[in-house]
Amino acid sequence: MTYEYVQLAIEDSVATLTLDRPEKRNAIIPQMADEVVDALDRVEGQVRVVVIEGAGSAFCAGMDLEKRFHEPRNEGPKAFFEAGRSTGAMFTTLYEYRHPTVAKIEGWTFGAGYCLQAVCDFAVATDESVFGLSEINFGIIPGGGAMWAAVNTMDRRTALYYTSTGKTFTGEEAANNGAITISVPETDFETEISELISSLVEKNPVALQFNTAVLERVRQMSFAEALDYERGKSEEMKYYQQDEWVDEGIEQFRDRKYKPGLESYEEQSK
Ligand code: COA
Repeated sequence: MTYEYVQLAIEDSVATLTLDRPEKRNAIIPQMADEVVDALDRVEGQVRVVVIEGAGSAFCAGMDLEKRFHEPRNEGPKAFFEAGRSTGAMFTTLYEYRHPTVAKIEGWTFGAGYCLQAVCDFAVATDESVFGLSEINFGIIPGGGAMWAAVNTMDRRTALYYTSTGKTFTGEEAANNGAITISVPETDFETEISELISSLVEKNPVALQFNTAVLERVRQMSFAEALDYERGKSEEMKYYQQDEWVDEGIEQFRDRKYKPGLESYEEQSK
């Protein structure tokens, strides 16, 4: 597939996917979502981290209100339904993705754009970025995953406030209310992103993959269930790692080569 609305760049072990529709503030259309999914499939297993960013002044202004809502409505219910499938696939692919995903946010982030950042594992924004769950402003509720995104990032009251009022909030506020991972002034943005990526790249990739997946599952379990599940999953992870954690991680600690409380072991096989 050749890409029209997405740029894909791979450097070292990091893939950067840039939503490339700046003249429409990177509003999502089905082809863009299909291209994102294709790019994610293409780099899976080849990289250690995937970064999603937006070209121009927006991370993503949400669903394309004309192409997603107005035009398919005129074409009938089937077209309307089909138009939502690609975006759903994009969100699901990202949410279940094997490698850590980082939303790199500079600028406008609305509706489905909010959902897009929420299905990434990490979201780093500039303080000046502007977020909104604006659906109520055009008479509907957040759908297609955005309501889930709101309530699975922010607490109930905050999610209810922003989805009911459509008010915007800054990157700084987003970090404070749990909507994103961290927000920094624009001057520190690239450094913050680089440090996060470096930290992820040096971690054991199998452990990172299991970490995200197990964390997600145990959120819905009782303590007793989680205890069993974590034990089982840890054994599965160690099997896939071929005991690298003992042979390298613990071995290097025995040789006092590093302090695990403060840093990572050196991956020999890298
Ligand atoms: N769907 C379709 N087109 C969109 C869009 C969207 N979600 N967001 C922006 N655009 C288009 C604008 O219509 C405009 O197109 P035009 O040049 O043909 O007139 C172009 O992108 C630039 O937008 P503009 O509003 O001029 O840019 P801005 O920087 O002044 O404002 C926003 C940016 C994001 C505040 C504003 O575009 C906006 O409110 N967009 C809708 C956001 C939203 O509610 N999204 C939820 C969707 S689920």
